Amino acid sequence: TIRVRKQIEDKRKDALLGGGQARINAQHKKGKLTARERIELLCDPGSFVEYDMFVEHTCTDFGMDKLKFPGDSVVTGHGLISGRLAYIFSQDFTVFGGSLSSIHAKKICKVMDQAMLVGAPVIGLNDSGGARIQEGVESLAGYADIFQRNVLASGVIPQISLIMGPCAGGAVYSPAMTDFTFMVKDTSYLFITGPDVVKAVTKEEVTQEELGGARMHSSVSGVAHGAFEDDVSALMELRHLFNYLPLSNRDPTPIRKCWDRWDRMVPSLDTIVPADSSEPYDMTEVVRCLVDERDFFEIMPQYARNIVVGFGRMNGRTVGIVGNQPKVAAGCLDINSSVKGARFVRFCDAFGIPLVTLVDVPGFLPGTAQEYGGIIRHGAKLLYAFAEATVPKVTVITRKGYGGAYDVMSSKHLRGDVNYAWPTAEVAVMGAKGAVSILFKSRPEEQARYEAEYVEKFGNPFPAAIRGFVDDIIEPRTTRMKICRDLDVLATKNLSNPPKKHGNIPL
Ligand code: COA
Repeated sequence: TIRVRKQIEDKRKDALLGGGQARINAQHKKGKLTARERIELLCDPGSFVEYDMFVEHTCTDFGMDKLKFPGDSVVTGHGLISGRLAYIFSQDFTVFGGSLSSIHAKKICKVMDQAMLVGAPVIGLNDSGGARIQEGVESLAGYADIFQRNVLASGVIPQISLIMGPCAGGAVYSPAMTDFTFMVKDTSYLFITGPDVVKAVTKEEVTQEELGGARMHSSVSGVAHGAFEDDVSALMELRHLFNYLPLSNRDPTPIRKCWDRWDRMVPSLDTIVPADSSEPYDMTEVVRCLVDERDFFEIMPQYARNIVVGFGRMNGRTVGIVGNQPKVAAGCLDINSSVKGARFVRFCDAFGIPLVTLVDVPGFLPGTAQEYGGIIRHGAKLLYAFAEATVPKVTVITRKGYGGAYDVMSSKHLRGDVNYAWPTAEVAVMGAKGAVSILFKSRPEEQARYEAEYVEKFGNPFPAAIRGFVDDIIEPRTTRMKICRDLDVLATKNLSNPPKKHGNIPL
């Protein structure tokens, strides 16, 4: 037994070193941390419990039987983040480039299965050269086993991916199906096929960074929900996000002790909306004024910036916030902002997170680019998501609520629980100029007079308020207090949709 004990010790030591010191040094030289260092930073000190340190790959071809590393190319287990449980896998680039062997996939599946049983999130730290080439189709099977679990876990436990190195080919589809995908600038990339294949097929010359880097995916493709400067800040931000999330769809929304008074008045909001209704203001400032301690975790801050989505807390309780951003494209809805908003709303609804919606929307973006791109289908996603959501929904119309976009933005008609208007609100079919130019097309001389009449009639919150489409017209300074109180009242809200296998959201 002394010999076995020694063997156990040696294997553990080997596992801790991954692919060896030289490869660890190479990893550091690229500005990347190792799989284990990342876990240490992500988890509360000393809380990580590792599984499967002794597993080895089973490949015997290409001399692989002589090349084995205990634990193979991924570190798995569970740990605590601010005292709350998370299952984690962290791919180890120092072992065969972090490539996915069948045993690597089995290790990941094991933690995913366990996370589902217990009801805790899965966090994946991706850094991998893709399928273990020596294992061939075995590793393709491994990917599919993970994909299947991603799908079954969707809406049951939060799944988060952080891309911290290469992730290409089929490997991209696991992160793509998780709820949030973040990337590290300059050291990570995501693409279906790399620059060489692109050049061979389409003759395009493009660098890795241009094709699938963090900046591109977080601002152009919308594949990533955020880009961080380096490994350390990415892991710290992940801890920050994790604190907002429930552990599963069975777990109540986390409430943490709040030092910011729930009934704090916010006088600055009384004057934040400019008198001229075509002048912009910053909706993220409205959000920061409303949430606890101005702490707002924005999701996709660089993508489709005409809509703002993210997490905050109100009186300690996590809320999902959706707001039109008048600073960008006047806050209109278009294809990208609809899809961005819809996915966020559905995450919140799946995990019981109340929705606070701030509305200042002049309508949908006109044009052939939008119509050809299918704005009808994509805009419908946001409408569908809000209409389907059964979580508490509080909406504040700060200024414009025009046309179909008014309906879409968590209006009273879509089972909104509490809908407010600020005195600056104007709910109408469209803006005054557009309206009179259609109504009085043949009598242009009368347009100016009727424009004034239109503004008088619709440029205020009364048409909506007298019909009960908003529950109250409130002073902006009281908004935080009112929403905090509403969310307390709505905490016991009980609403469910008709039983069905699943709906058919227009994809
Ligand atoms: N299968 C097996 N081993 C792999 C691998 C894979 N998919 N990807 C990388 N490795 C190994 C490399 O052979 C190398 O081993 P060595 O140092 O013993 O020679 C080690 O991992 C490190 O890889 P290296 O290429 O030196 O690192 P890099 O940072 O220069 O490049 C990649 C990283 C991912 C761009 C590059 O390794 C690559 O193109 N890999 C193959 C990607 C692929 O096509 N995967 C299969 C399809 S999904």
